[in-house]
Amino acid sequence: MTQSISEKLETVRQQALAEIAAASAEGQLYQLKSRYTGKKSDLSAVLADLGALSIDEKRQIGGLANTVKTDVLQAIEDRLSQVVQSTAAASFDATAPGIPCVVGSQHPLTMVLDELKDVFGKMGFAVAEGPEVETDYYNFEALNTPKHHPARDMQDTFYVSDEVLLRTHTSPVQVRLMEKQKPPIRAIMPGRVYRNEEISARSYCLFHQMEGLYIDAHVTFADLKGTIDAFVRNYFGNSVKSKFRPSFFPFTEPSAEVDIQCFLCNSKGCPVCKRTGWLEIMGCGMVDPNVFNAVGINPDEWSGFAFGMGIERIAMLKYDVTDIRLFFENDLRFLEQFKHV
Ligand code: PHE
Repeated sequence: MTQSISEKLETVRQQALAEIAAASAEGQLYQLKSRYTGKKSDLSAVLADLGALSIDEKRQIGGLANTVKTDVLQAIEDRLSQVVQSTAAASFDATAPGIPCVVGSQHPLTMVLDELKDVFGKMGFAVAEGPEVETDYYNFEALNTPKHHPARDMQDTFYVSDEVLLRTHTSPVQVRLMEKQKPPIRAIMPGRVYRNEEISARSYCLFHQMEGLYIDAHVTFADLKGTIDAFVRNYFGNSVKSKFRPSFFPFTEPSAEVDIQCFLCNSKGCPVCKRTGWLEIMGCGMVDPNVFNAVGINPDEWSGFAFGMGIERIAMLKYDVTDIRLFFENDLRFLEQFKHV
């Protein structure tokens, strides 16, 4: 009896392998799988009948049936992968036109930041960074702006707690840098800043600034003017003039705001420059001795200047963007316009 069962199993194996080899479609192979190894298959019937056999026969026939099953399953698996591959190869049309892939572009703010880093890098300024979540000390106190100082009103602040806040400007990075590094220092400090301002086309709750700091022996206001003038000519064009207007910042003395000739209307007067022919681009001044004292730098030995500008403001002027919110909305119709800039 075992003889005839094992012969039968052998026949099943041969027949199955032949049909599998001849199959040319995935569906056919799944059908063969269920026909030869499924619940109603000859193989399953043999395994179900083992009960009538002796222990030795059970072992022999059971073992054989299992090998046949494994062989059949393996053959199906192998043939399936061949069939799938050849179908894919047959449906590949090397002459079909390609599918264009969407190429991204740099964000305009990144482009402006990179350009600024480049211009100042050539003047010897290194890049430094600091945290966006700051303490009151670094954002205000060490910058000569004690609690209840009216100048705090210049910057509406998001407080996390009494002593912790989202930095309102990049000036705290100056303090951190001066604490870490002894003069001479020549660095720019780009980064994101936050202000609790009403959102409109001209102001947003977050934006970017780039701070600059230059400290050495005998640095004067003339060095500040020369550096800013060189920057303006390098960045906005060699013929663009800049001028200083007296201003106030608690951490610089004297302080100034820098205007450049409006390059949008050739300083004839347009809506962007409010018909003045001049555009305001940054604040600056000589580092206040109180700031030096707070970080342990001797103001009798060292002097320096600092400046800070808004990156969005520069990008808006450069690319004629009239609404600051566009920089943060990630609308592809806006961003795609910078692909070929
Ligand atoms: N931190 C100032 C602001 O945000 C800008 C500034 C930087 C002014 C450095 C002077 C010197 O308004």
